[in-house]
Amino acid sequence: MAITEEFKQELKARTDIADVISSYVQLKKSGRNLVGLCPFHNERSPSFSVSRENGFFYCFGCGAGGDVITFIKKIENLDYVDAVKLLADRAGLTVPEDAASDGMGHLKTRIYEANREAARFYHRNLYAPQGRQALRYLRDRGLTEKTIIHFGLGYSPSDRFELVNHLSAKGFSNNEMIQANLANQSKKNNPFDRFSDRVMFPIIDLRGNVIGFGGRIMSDIKPKYLNTSDTPVFNKSRNLFALNFAKNKAGGQLILVEGYMDVIALHQAGFENAVATLGTSLTEEQAMMIKRYCDEVVICYDADEAGQKATQRAIGILRPTGIKIKILTVPNGKDPDEFIKSHGQQGSARFRMLLEKSGNDTEYRIMKLRSGYNTDVPEQKVEFATKAAELIATLDNPVEQDVYIGRLSQELAIEKTALKRLVEKNNRRTYREHQKTEQRQAQENMNGVKDRLNKEKHFNLRAANAEEAIISIMIYDPDTAIKIARELNADTFVTGFNKHIYEILKRRIEQGREISAEDISGDFSDDEMGRISGMMMSHPREKSPDSAAREYIEILKEQSSKLTPAQAAEADNDTIMEQLRKMREKKK
Ligand code: UTP
Ligand code: MN
Repeated sequence: MAITEEFKQELKARTDIADVISSYVQLKKSGRNLVGLCPFHNERSPSFSVSRENGFFYCFGCGAGGDVITFIKKIENLDYVDAVKLLADRAGLTVPEDAASDGMGHLKTRIYEANREAARFYHRNLYAPQGRQALRYLRDRGLTEKTIIHFGLGYSPSDRFELVNHLSAKGFSNNEMIQANLANQSKKNNPFDRFSDRVMFPIIDLRGNVIGFGGRIMSDIKPKYLNTSDTPVFNKSRNLFALNFAKNKAGGQLILVEGYMDVIALHQAGFENAVATLGTSLTEEQAMMIKRYCDEVVICYDADEAGQKATQRAIGILRPTGIKIKILTVPNGKDPDEFIKSHGQQGSARFRMLLEKSGNDTEYRIMKLRSGYNTDVPEQKVEFATKAAELIATLDNPVEQDVYIGRLSQELAIEKTALKRLVEKNNRRTYREHQKTEQRQAQENMNGVKDRLNKEKHFNLRAANAEEAIISIMIYDPDTAIKIARELNADTFVTGFNKHIYEILKRRIEQGREISAEDISGDFSDDEMGRISGMMMSHPREKSPDSAAREYIEILKEQSSKLTPAQAAEADNDTIMEQLRKMREKKK
C-alpha cells in the first residue's frame, strides 16, 4: 500500500470517527459507545455501534465493521486510496501524490480513463456522417441538442474495431479495454468492440467518472439495451442512472423510473430529480443511496404488469428505510417518456399534475388489493377486509394504521372496532415474527452458526471466544500485547481464521509496529477488519488486561489440547499418547 504509516497516523490524529459517521447516521450515546440504525442494512432497532475512543464501528445485525477508512469505503463506494483522500480533504491534509499508484487502484484509474475516452469517441461519432441515423433517432424521440450534450449521448459505429483501434492509438492495452468491458475477446484473443451500431448512454457516478454504458439498438433486434457488465469500477446494483445530476436537484424528493429514456425525458421536461436503476430491479443498496439524498421517493414505473410488480417489490425494499414513498401511475399504459412526449408542449405541466396527485404506497397497495375482489359479494368483502387488515398490520406507525382502518371502515361499511381487532391480531403476529427473527439472528451470530469467515468457530465456541478475547485485549493494550506475543504460540490457536489474525498482529509487534484498530486496517481485508471490530465490541476493554489475558490464554491452551473426534481420527499415535498424558496430569 502506497499510503505511508506516517500519513495514516496524521490522518488518524485529525479524524474523529464519531464525527465522520455522524454525518451519515444519527448516533446516540449508549454507555461508552454511540449507537444508531445501520446504514448498510435495513433494521428497526439500532445494532450499529461506534467506539469513539477506539476508532472503530461494528454492526451486530449485519457484521459490517472496521475503522473510519473502511466506513468511508463502504458508504461512499470508494476504493481505499479514494477513501483516504476524502478523509484527508475533510481534515485539511493532502495525500502525497504517488499514493494513488498501487495495483488495483491503477487498473481502476485506467478503466475510468478508457471509459471517458470511449464516451468522447461515441459522442463525437454521433455528429460524424456514420452517426447520422442515430442523431436522427434521438431527435425523433424528442431530445434537444442541449439534452444530448448534457447526457453525453453517443453512437457506437457498426464496424466492430473502431473503438478498439481508437483506444489502442491512445495507449490503452487490450487488457484494459476488456477489463472495462468496452471490448470482448475473440477466439484468437483479439479484442473487438462490445457495443456496435447502438445509441450510447454513458453512466456516470457521483464523482463524475464514466463507469459504464447502456446501448440501445435502433431496430427491433434483441436485446433492446446492452449494458456494461460488472467491472472493477461498475456494479449495476450499487449505482443509479443520473443520480450525479439528480442529487443536486432533489430538494428532498427523487423520482424513480425504469428506463434511461424516461430519466432523460423527465430531465428535459424540468424534472431533474429523476433517476433509474440499471436494467435490474431495485436493490437494498440502491434504496440506502436514495435515502441519503432525499426523504421522499416517487416510484413511477411502467403501467404494464411487469412495472406494477416491480412497484410492489420496490415498496418492499424502500419501506424499511423509513423513507416516504409515493406512487405515480401514468395513465393509458404509457411510460413517463411516452406520456410526456404525447402531450407535446403540455407534457411537463401534465406530468406535474400526475406528480401532485400521486398517492402514498399504502393507498396504492390497498387499491391494488381491492382490484382483485368484488366487494359487493359478502364473502369477497370479508376476504378483502381480512387481507387489508394483514397489510395494515405491517405498518409500523400506529397513527398510520388508524388512518387506514378508518378509511376502510367507511368504504366497506364495517365497524371500525371490528377492523381494529383484526389488525391487532395481525399486529401481535407480525411483532412476534420480527422478534423471533431478530432473536434467532442474534443467537446465530453468537454461536457462529452462519459464520462465513470463521467456519470452525461454531464447533469450537469456547476456544474461539478465548481467541477473540485475546485478540481484542492485544489491540486495546499495546503493553499487554507485547507480553502475549512473547508467550503465546500461534499454533495454540484452534480456529484457522483467528490464528491468521493473531499471526499478523504478532508479526507487527515483533517488527515494533503499532497495532491499534486504525494501524492494522491496511493488513486486513474489509471482511477481516469487520470481524475484528466485532470482537472488540463483544469484548470491551479490560480493567486489568494482563490478568485477563492470562486467564484467556489458559482457557485457550486447555481447549487447544483437547482434540475433537474428527481431529482424533486424523491424529497420529504420538499425538494421542501426548493427549492422554496431559489428561492424566490434570487428574493428579
Ligand atoms: P424498457 O423496455 O421499459 O425500455 O426498459 P425503455 O426505457 O422504455 O426504452 P425505450 O423507450 O424503448 O428506448 C427499461 C430499462 O430496462 C433496461 C434498461 O435500463 C431500460 O432503460 N433494459 C431493458 C435492459 O437493460 N435491457 C433490455 O433489453 C431492455
Ligand atoms: Mn420507453
